[in-house]
This record gives sequence, C-alpha cells and structure tokens, in this order.
Amino acid sequence: MKKVLIIGANGMLGQELANIFKSDSEYKVTAWDFNKIDITDETQVKEKISKLNPEIIINSAAYNAVDLCEKDKAEFAKAKMLNGKAPGYLAKIAKKLDATFVHYSTDYVFSGMPEIPEPAGCAGSCSSCSLHEGFVPQLGFDENAIPEPVQNYGKTKLMGEDAVQRNGEKYYIIRLSKLFGKPAKSKTAKKSFFDVMLEVGKKNKEVKVVDEETSCFTYAPDLAKKTKEIIESEKPYGIFHVSNADACTWYEAVVELYKMTKIKTKVIPVSSDEFPRPAARPYVSSLINTKLNPLRSYKLALREYLKNK
Ligand SMILES: NC(=O)c1ccc[n+]([C@@H]2O[C@H](COP(=O)([O-])OP(=O)(O)OC[C@H]3O[C@@H](n4cnc5c(N)ncnc54)[C@H](OP(=O)(O)O)[C@@H]3O)[C@@H](O)[C@H]2O)c1
Repeated sequence: MKKVLIIGANGMLGQELANIFKSDSEYKVTAWDFNKIDITDETQVKEKISKLNPEIIINSAAYNAVDLCEKDKAEFAKAKMLNGKAPGYLAKIAKKLDATFVHYSTDYVFSGMPEIPEPAGCAGSCSSCSLHEGFVPQLGFDENAIPEPVQNYGKTKLMGEDAVQRNGEKYYIIRLSKLFGKPAKSKTAKKSFFDVMLEVGKKNKEVKVVDEETSCFTYAPDLAKKTKEIIESEKPYGIFHVSNADACTWYEAVVELYKMTKIKTKVIPVSSDEFPRPAARPYVSSLINTKLNPLRSYKLALREYLKNK
C-alpha cells in the first residue's frame, strides 16, 4: 500500500484528488488542509511530513485571488509566500524522503501572445507556399514555451515552479486553466465560473460576457484522474499541461452552458474593456499538451457536471 499525502484537500481540486485516491485500495490517503498544516511554515512542513513519511506528496493548496493580489501589497506578499516559496519547502522535503512530488501551476504564467506556428515543412514565415492551404495553427503554449506572466498572480505561480525545479528531484509540475467542478469545502471557497453564470442566467434576460481570454477549461475530477495516471504510468518527471479539449472564450462557454441548460437568456459578446479588472489577463493562454493522451472536450465534462449537480 502506498502512502499519499494530499495538501489543500478541502479545495476544489484537492477534494477530487482525495476522492480518486481513496477509491483505490492500493493507497493509504492522508488529506490535509490549512487546519492540519500551514505550508508557508517550513518547520511545520519538515516536521509533519517527515513524521508521516509519504511516498507521494500532492500539493493543491494555493493563493488564487488574482485581482486582490494585484491591487493590495499585503495580499501580494501572501501570494508570494503560498504560491512562490511554500512549493519549494515541499519539494525539498519530498526530495529528502525520496517521495514523488506533484505541484499545480497555471496558464497565467504565459503572456497571452503565443507564437503562430507554421505548418510542418514550411521553410519560413510565408503565407504563399502550398503547405499553408487548409492549415489551421494550434494557438497556445506548449510545455517548453517561455513563461512571461503579465500579472502578480502569474508571477507568484512562476516563482513556485522555479522553487520546485530548484529544490526538487522527482517532481511533476502540472499546469491547468479555468478550473471548474463542485465548489470547494473550505469556507472561503469561490464558486466556479459555470455556477456563477447559471445563477446570472436565471435572474437576467440578457448578459454581457467577455469574448476574449481564450483558454481551456479543466474539470477537477478529470484532472485528479489524470494526475493519478501520470504518477502510476511513471511518466518522466517535468512539466505537463492538463486541461480539457476545446479552447474557448468566456462568451463561447456561456453560450454552450445556456444551450445545455435551456436557459433563454441572451448572451452578448463584449471586449474585456467593458469589465476592467485590476489584473491583466492573457488574450490567449490555451495550454498545448504534447506529452499525454488528451482529456475529453470540456463540453462533455460540463454535461456530466450539470447532470451530477
Ligand atoms: N481555480 C482555478 O481556476 C485555477 C486555474 C489555474 C490553476 N489553478 C491551480 O490549481 C490548484 C488548485 O486550485 P483550487 O482552485 O482547487 O484551489 P482552492 O479551491 O482555492 O483550494 C486551495 C486550498 O488550499 C488551502 N490553503 C490555503 N492556504 C494554505 C496554507 N498556508 N497551507 C495549507 N493549505 C492552505 C485552502 O484552505 P482554506 O480555504 O482553509 O484557506 C484551500 O482548501 C492551485 O495550484 C491553483 O493555483 C487553479
């Protein structure tokens, strides 16, 4: 039986990780949240985790208030501790215990301006060679793309990636985007985008939604399952991109949501300038996965989520 420690276990992703590992009798699961361990305290991290001596450590705890840490210095400092420093403490203890370490990051480490790929065989930046005919480039960032965050949250998550790489050995850094699923158990839990838009749709005849910020939704149970698969298939350590297929804008996702739920509210596409927020968002931040079998479309995952709600 393998001992697995899940940190941030009351969070949206953490609760699904706990479910998936608990449902397999091969694992002895310890699920900790903030009330059991404060991962920003290195002494606690060393002592508590050494005592438990797990073979696998999964960290889904994070600071996720993107706008708050943009406008408030104290919040930015908190985000730097939790997202930037603490993953390094965990990677270090995992290395000492020879444990596999899994950490999560975000599409917001990218700038939002992906390079436009040429079709295979094209020798340069042309649009006249026949190789371009019918070629639809996949826009986004693969695992090797250079991160260049455009807001504080992304900067702190990139600090965390660097800390894991500097201090760890057997680690998987899994980047995801636009997480959705059952609301987290924790008191401070945010509702996911689809739940918010369902409420808005039921109360309004029309709704304006940003038709920008293209990226892929990630269904928490799908990501939890994929995490287990990555560990069990002993993939080479490194960075992975895991999100559901079918990148879309917020507007496109709401159109799909209302179609599925037969909500008649009119959805109006608008630019992000209509909803100014403190933190800049990447225009396109789709995560391109070149290492794993792809996840299903977010549309199928969303259908399942709505059915089980
Ligand atoms: N949500 C998204 O759309 C999104 C997008 C891209 C990437 N991600 C990444 O995906 C991962 C999972 O995110 P999530 O949305 O599931 O997070 P979440 O729901 O906000 O859960 C985070 C959990 O971490 C706990 N926590 C906070 N501070 C802690 C500390 N000092 N020590 C130990 N635990 C602490 C929280 O407990 P309390 O509630 O008690 O504070 C909470 O249960 C994170 O790495 C996140 O950055 C998320």
